[in-house]
Amino acid sequence: MAAQAHPSSIPENTLEGVPAHIVALLDRLHDESLKQEASLRPEDFRNDETVHDLTRDKFIALDADKARYLYMLCRAINAKTIVEAGTSFGVSTIYLALAVLANVRATGGGPGRVIGTEHEPTKAARAREHWRECGDDVAGVIDLREGDLRETLKQDLENVDLLLLDIWTPMALPTLKLVQPKMRYGAVVIADNTISAASSYKDFLEYIRAPNSGFISQTLPFHNGLEMSIYLPQKN
Ligand SMILES: C[S@@+](CC[C@H](N)C(=O)[O-])C[C@H]1O[C@@H](n2cnc3c(N)ncnc32)[C@H](O)[C@@H]1O
Repeated sequence: MAAQAHPSSIPENTLEGVPAHIVALLDRLHDESLKQEASLRPEDFRNDETVHDLTRDKFIALDADKARYLYMLCRAINAKTIVEAGTSFGVSTIYLALAVLANVRATGGGPGRVIGTEHEPTKAARAREHWRECGDDVAGVIDLREGDLRETLKQDLENVDLLLLDIWTPMALPTLKLVQPKMRYGAVVIADNTISAASSYKDFLEYIRAPNSGFISQTLPFHNGLEMSIYLPQKN
């Protein structure tokens, strides 16, 4: 939310090799998202009652600099199975799909999969339109699960390399607990806005930072914070 870095201020080569029409689409979608967010106030996100209604038609896309960092991270860990909690209009999903496709092309072991989650049908439909604009490769690697993720993530999940938590904060810990048993050793968990929303992330942050939680964790200094945790469970 409330991006600081416009895509044009980020080094060009973070998305090297990505088709120009997709880079242009991402820039346009980030711009639209920022314009919409200007009409929202921080307190709108603190009220569980109103957040859904106020954001039903809004992107709330992950900031462009965070999204590009996420793309690089997915390339670094050669992620081929990714879960995204909170898909909205599918902006961050495009970065994740691009990374999975590039990893499979480079090292094999496909087909690769980005599991998206969205409970608002109109948002899911817009997301699919954006993915179609990207082309068949991007659209084909995304498995969008429509409905409440507390149900849709209960099945068909294996060997998860990365979990993105870009969702209303009360949903972060329940989502992690659902996905954790399916995460591989060394899997990465990214959670957005963990500085600005630290108080509502309290249960999640306590869980992930507890001694012997199986995670090591650090808050990265992006605008509003971005928590990066690595799953390194001990062998019993
Ligand atoms: C911050 S937005 C996601 C933005 C997206 N990651 C992006 O960068 O474009 C969070 C989304 O999570 C969805 N959401 C909230 N609670 C959910 C739930 N229980 N199950 C599925 N989706 C949910 C909301 O409808 C909203 O679209």
